[in-house]
Amino acid sequence: MVIDLSAVQAQTPGLQHGTHLLACGAALMPRVVVDAITDHIQLEAQIGGYEAAAQQSEMLDGVYSDVARLLGAKPQEIALMENATAAWCQVFYGLKLKAGDRVLTCQAEYAANYVAYLQRAARDGIIIEVIPNDDSGAIDLAALEAMLAEPAALISITWIPTNGGLVNPAAGVGLLARKYGVPYLLDACQAVGQMPVDVAELGCDYLSATGRKFLRGPRGIGFLYIREEMIAKTEPAVIDLFAAPWVETSRYELRADARRFENWENAYALRAGLGAAVRYALEIGMEAIQDRAWGLAERLRSGLRQHDGIILHDAGNTQCAIVSFSITDAEPNALVAYAKECGISIATSTPSSTLLDAEARNLPTMVRAAPHYYNSEKEIDQLLACIQAYRQTLR
Ligand SMILES: Cc1ncc(COP(=O)(O)O)c(C=O)c1O
Repeated sequence: MVIDLSAVQAQTPGLQHGTHLLACGAALMPRVVVDAITDHIQLEAQIGGYEAAAQQSEMLDGVYSDVARLLGAKPQEIALMENATAAWCQVFYGLKLKAGDRVLTCQAEYAANYVAYLQRAARDGIIIEVIPNDDSGAIDLAALEAMLAEPAALISITWIPTNGGLVNPAAGVGLLARKYGVPYLLDACQAVGQMPVDVAELGCDYLSATGRKFLRGPRGIGFLYIREEMIAKTEPAVIDLFAAPWVETSRYELRADARRFENWENAYALRAGLGAAVRYALEIGMEAIQDRAWGLAERLRSGLRQHDGIILHDAGNTQCAIVSFSITDAEPNALVAYAKECGISIATSTPSSTLLDAEARNLPTMVRAAPHYYNSEKEIDQLLACIQAYRQTLR
């Protein structure tokens, strides 16, 4: 399917305000998402928050089906959460890990996840083990299989890291997790919205993601997938009266679906926005989105490769729509500021967001740009020209 670029651009109000190349931070929302949020807020203002939720209950219930469709999951396997980290933590801190339990993670692991491992290592005595990378810089599946010769309590990895184009072999990890019967928690925060995601193919038990990045939803909403067979076996870290109705004075009953990971109170307007974002992406088609976003990133990479003194830091043989680089003798934040003056939004990625990877590869603070399918080739070329103009100022 080919994307109707002019229609997509006309439906993206943010494009009128400059060049936005930061879908890995928070992408530009399409108008349907903004409308879904503001319509619900307006309704809350008009008739009251509880009444608005009741009136819109069919649409709001439909968000579970929308997210399920996006992931190839069932609606009862989805919980809607405030963000990816909240989703991830509800599972990770809920797992009954004890002293000596091995948790296998990856070199490109996200900081929020890794500090949680460190906390449970200090508190509960879990052992963190990092799966080595292959020569391309992606998870080495043979090395992982060798590590699985000894019992492991959890495999928990990041599919696409925050700091570059690497796409870890998440489905290959899933095959090994199944083969060795090890629970598998996948951070898909940067993958969802830029490529097809199919939980059956991934073989994961739990998957966390956010709305605001490549999915083009609002900030402040994310979701959790939990494989149906794992729901009854997994206690949320924190429960409330929605997750666990109080059925007798001395007893509660955890819900039987994934919503046992949720709370009672929620941002219904953001849920409406998330649903609109998912339906919009699915209508365009995830393969088409991937082709175009990854193609634009490749155009940027090949433009950057033309110039001496620009170092691309993206690892892996397969590279996604996040491009990270540095320029010899240039301060990354100064380039980001210069680009802003040119009307281009890019950012930096600091070592502390992926510290294991940064130390292993001796990575500096890098410049990070992430085009999405709504960007044009011209905008990529504008960024390349802006970088060259900035370098001129240094001479
Ligand atoms: C790889 C990865 N995982 C998790 C997160 C956390 O997402 P959230 O901020 O929605 O909790 C991010 C955010 O940048 C990320 O890049």
